[in-house]
Amino acid sequence: MIASALVGAQFGSEGKGLIAGYIAGHYNTHVRVGAANAGHTLYTWNNSVEEVAPGIPEYGKLEKHVMQQLPCAAYANPDATLVVGPGALISPEIFLDEIDQLRAWRNERGLGPADILVDWRAHVILDEQIAEEAATDLEKRIGSTSATAGEGIGIAQADRVMRHGRCVRFIDWWEYAANIYVEVRQCDVPMRLADSDRRVLLEGTQGTGLSLTTGEFPYVTSRNTTAAGLAADAGVAPSFKQVILVARTYPIRVAGNSGPFHAGSHEIEWEDIGVDPASERTTVTKKVRRVATFSLEQIVEAARLNGATGIALTFCDYVDPRIAGQSGTAQGVWSSLSAYPDVERMVNLIEQETGVPVIFLGTGPASVIELRR
Ligand code: GTP
Ligand code: MG
Repeated sequence: MIASALVGAQFGSEGKGLIAGYIAGHYNTHVRVGAANAGHTLYTWNNSVEEVAPGIPEYGKLEKHVMQQLPCAAYANPDATLVVGPGALISPEIFLDEIDQLRAWRNERGLGPADILVDWRAHVILDEQIAEEAATDLEKRIGSTSATAGEGIGIAQADRVMRHGRCVRFIDWWEYAANIYVEVRQCDVPMRLADSDRRVLLEGTQGTGLSLTTGEFPYVTSRNTTAAGLAADAGVAPSFKQVILVARTYPIRVAGNSGPFHAGSHEIEWEDIGVDPASERTTVTKKVRRVATFSLEQIVEAARLNGATGIALTFCDYVDPRIAGQSGTAQGVWSSLSAYPDVERMVNLIEQETGVPVIFLGTGPASVIELRR
């Protein structure tokens, strides 16, 4: 097995879905951990739908997918095995709904059932845990996706620590669901991933600044979101071929009392950078995100904490709108950014200070430039 990891550098919504979708074809096995408070967005081409990427009509016909439990490869690489690791928390309705949607999508294309493996130790969030979390003051104290959306993730994680949560093996409806959802198999994920022909992508959730262990406590999430935590939650050894760190040009935090930005950033308004706030609503809670200026220090710290080998800089279209929609697939791999000096300056600075090459640029919700210089 060879594993690579994709992680967020800041406070989530860095566009991990965009990059995961772009590189999906290189891996035959994709692993998600985390919980439904992470929503990864990716677009696939579909000539029979009318929906287009927001604000950029020339993209043509794209279909939007929001992945809260399954890896983005569900749509970006239909041949891949989709895995939910032992550290994951499953919201049953969201999970089964995602499988229903995937099944319909595959049926339309004449594809058979997907291959979905779920570790028996992944936990399932129960209705009583959702109610218990809603009765706490968590939402008031910490602006977070789970607390706002009422997902019960914090309590489910706490129950797991107290050894009275419910893991997949001990859930009655799982047996029932397994009969209907033939594509889902319960297994020991670490053992299954050990096969020599597995090229595995671990799709991280949220961002390094939200990590329970090294983030801005208490304004953090309920797990370690760095590459090390991702390996542990996926059940693979912490040795990666590649660690791709995804960083936004303008970091965000979710709406409400969600805590400080990193030193070196200051909070701004969307209008200050000419972005329509409506286009920056969170994927899961649909609230307008808070935004700040780029902190180079934060990226240096995140590159160290994750052992980054490559950086994907997303939202380059916010730095220079002329780069919006540009992509490597149409024009080959790019070797120079001289036509976009503001983006070039930023890329050079990041590479100088982190010592890590910038290998991808996000230029819109559905466009990526691959850099090779
Ligand atoms: P979390 O794990 O929930 O933090 O998700 P994520 O990092 O996968 O981010 P997500 O896909 O939820 O959010 C990013 C949003 O910005 C989505 O709506 C994407 O379609 C969009 N997006 C991603 N990359 C770019 C980019 O380079 N430019 C622009 N304009 N939008 C982008
Ligand atoms: Mg998201």
